[in-house]
Amino acid sequence: MSNNKHNLIGIRYAAVAAAASLSLLLAGCGGSEPEPTRAPEPAAAVAVEPTKVPADIIEKGKGVYNQYGCQACHAIQGFAEGAVGPALTNLYVNAQKTIASSEYKSSAGKATTVEEYIRESILNPNAFVVAQCPTGPCPQGVMVQNFKDQISESDLEALVGNLMTLGR
Ligand code: HEC
Repeated sequence: MSNNKHNLIGIRYAAVAAAASLSLLLAGCGGSEPEPTRAPEPAAAVAVEPTKVPADIIEKGKGVYNQYGCQACHAIQGFAEGAVGPALTNLYVNAQKTIASSEYKSSAGKATTVEEYIRESILNPNAFVVAQCPTGPCPQGVMVQNFKDQISESDLEALVGNLMTLGR
């Protein structure tokens, strides 16, 4: 359902990074000779790398992080000190490990990239509940449940873009 939006963001980043990734751009435009083995889900083809998140998105994402109160629960080294949810300082590597874990694979989580995982954590927090929080096992239902009704797509894009760059 959010696939179209997701895709648009990917394409937007891809456009910014076009000089470095001509292939992404070509995949997005679809030439006269489409690749025969192209994946049915274009979102996967434009997965964003943290190094390609534009600086203005990262900056906007910091504001969004504070605006939605994330800092009250999540520490980011040098930026936020919350200690209710997991620290997000190394989110990129942690998310990669999580996605690859058997616990995640047997959960309701569907993410295959870090970007998808962060989106899912925000929009559908119970798909996968992180095991370890600063003060003990992570409680389910404490991570805010209705961000999906509060946050605009452009705020979400900046927030996810920013968080992707943490610990990469
Ligand atoms: C009231 C406290 C609270 C607030 C506010 C909160 N979270 Fe969380 N968050 C948690 C808890 C607790 C968990 C771990 C349990 C879970 O996975 O649902 C979590 C999990 C996460 C995870 C997964 C972390 C990992 O290591 O895999 C991400 C990403 C995340 N939150 C991002 C956010 C963002 C972004 C915001 C602001 C829009 C936010 N959270 C607001 C408590 C909170």
